[in-house]
Amino acid sequence: MMNTTTELDSRLLACASFVRAGAVAADIGSDHAYLPIYLVKHGICPRAVASDINEGPVKRAKINVAVSGLSDKIDLLLADGLDKASALSPDDIIIAGMGGELIRDIIDASEYVRDPRIRLILQPMTMPEVLRAYLAENGFNIIDEKVCTAADKCYQIICAEYDGVVREYSRFELLLGHINIGRIRSGKANGDELELLRRTRIAAGRRIEGMSRAANPDTAAIEADRQLSDLCEKLMKI
Ligand SMILES: C[S@@+](CC[C@H](N)C(=O)[O-])C[C@H]1O[C@@H](n2cnc3c(N)ncnc32)[C@H](O)[C@@H]1O
Repeated sequence: MMNTTTELDSRLLACASFVRAGAVAADIGSDHAYLPIYLVKHGICPRAVASDINEGPVKRAKINVAVSGLSDKIDLLLADGLDKASALSPDDIIIAGMGGELIRDIIDASEYVRDPRIRLILQPMTMPEVLRAYLAENGFNIIDEKVCTAADKCYQIICAEYDGVVREYSRFELLLGHINIGRIRSGKANGDELELLRRTRIAAGRRIEGMSRAANPDTAAIEADRQLSDLCEKLMKI
């Protein structure tokens, strides 16, 4: 949890670490505006945008930005997705703390992000596989990833830039991220990446158990999860 508006929890800190120095950052679904405040306060961004679809969060953000003395450097917007933020030409766009499907829909609704100069920093709370599949099919290159374990949750942060190249990933790669997997394979994984692997295997095992008890078990789904579990197990031995 954050204690002040200049400090960030480890999840948002991991998102902030992908923001390029000197970039104008837009935090979409900003809520409290902690991230834009941190980025400007620490001199990472000269300016930032905090945008949210709901009035309550925008009001909260406005108070926090004013208390931080940054009202002249952080624009506050009440808008759906990137609807208004794109007019302010942000370089780096953070969409964090929402479901993978909602993040996908926000990206899909914006032409602005289809530009190699723009960086997307995405932190899905659920369905990372849906988000990665969308990115791969729509010409967004995943250039880096991070895993952050906090408060007994394993968060994935995906950094992507548009290059127009369509890619294809296996289910294993969609769930864990090919960069995270590469780190694990090369023996360079940190504890958070290994924890993601461990949890993915446990989740697959639980699904297999649940599906096997069904009156008409979905044998294809069980087999897919068995393969996933085996891949995790193999990597855990590295
Ligand atoms: C759980 S909060 C996450 C806040 C912050 N990004 C974080 O990661 O801590 C999700 C925020 O997204 C906002 N939101 C949901 N759908 C949105 C949309 N389509 N466009 C902009 N904001 C949205 C909600 O109002 C809420 O404030």
